[in-house]
Amino acid sequence: MPDDVLVLAEKLSKVYGDVVPTPALTDVSFSLGCNEFASIIGRSGSGKSTLLNLIGLLDTPTSGRLLLNDRDTAGLDRDGRAKLRNTFVGFVFQFHHLLPEFSVIENVCMPAIIRGERQSAELLDRARDTLDTLALTDVADKNANEISGGQKQRVAIARALMNRPQLVLADEPTGNLDTENTDLVYELFRKVNREWGTGFLIVTHDRAIAQQTDRIIELSDGRLVQDVADPGADLPAESRGA
Ligand SMILES: Nc1ncnc2c1ncn2[C@@H]1O[C@H](COP(=O)(O)OP(=O)(O)OP(=O)(O)O)[C@@H](O)[C@H]1O
Ligand SMILES: [Mg+2]
Repeated sequence: MPDDVLVLAEKLSKVYGDVVPTPALTDVSFSLGCNEFASIIGRSGSGKSTLLNLIGLLDTPTSGRLLLNDRDTAGLDRDGRAKLRNTFVGFVFQFHHLLPEFSVIENVCMPAIIRGERQSAELLDRARDTLDTLALTDVADKNANEISGGQKQRVAIARALMNRPQLVLADEPTGNLDTENTDLVYELFRKVNREWGTGFLIVTHDRAIAQQTDRIIELSDGRLVQDVADPGADLPAESRGA
């Protein structure tokens, strides 16, 4: 069903540089349905971040087509891209970039306020609700520099979820976390995926983590070389975190 497709990439390519052209992504085609929980793996330099940045409209393809929610992104002007990016997608990066002088809840509300949303009771309710979902209820009013690394990354995730995006794009979201915090983040991603119906596309170096997702898309030298559904199906349930 076409209206169930969140992302449709058709022969997406990206070449960086005019003088020395570097192909970063070559003819990548795939579609991602609503509510999918998928990962992207591949070696360093294989094009993972490039693909995520194209899907998140942070960058434009050199060729190929990208449809988000059935909408051809090529027809969008700067404002149209920014609007779609703000409403459709939430980004989570390896480094959280919280504002240390502000409280956790202020950090979570900040992007909305910068975009011009009023600091209303509704906004604060939504922020508390998001923090509750990410098991951050107790630190909501703490300063962002008074919480642990794992909590900081969860605050960054809460911030990305404030707009209730249809799709979360996460680039090595647990790259700086220990195993315990990594597991917690993936549990919470799952919970958001199940309860809110949010789609996830998560870049990771770690095949064991990728195996906990429902689909693994593998890139090599900028090309999609494998696309496997239910990669952890033959593992025992406890090692999948099920
Ligand atoms: N802004 C840029 N300008 C020029 N080349 C770039 C740029 N960004 C990425 N590249 C090149 O494009 C290719 C893909 O890079 P990309 O960052 O997508 O890889 P990656 O899979 O995310 O790697 P990593 O796992 O190290 O983060 C690499 O050869 C890289 O050097
Ligand atoms: Mg990268």
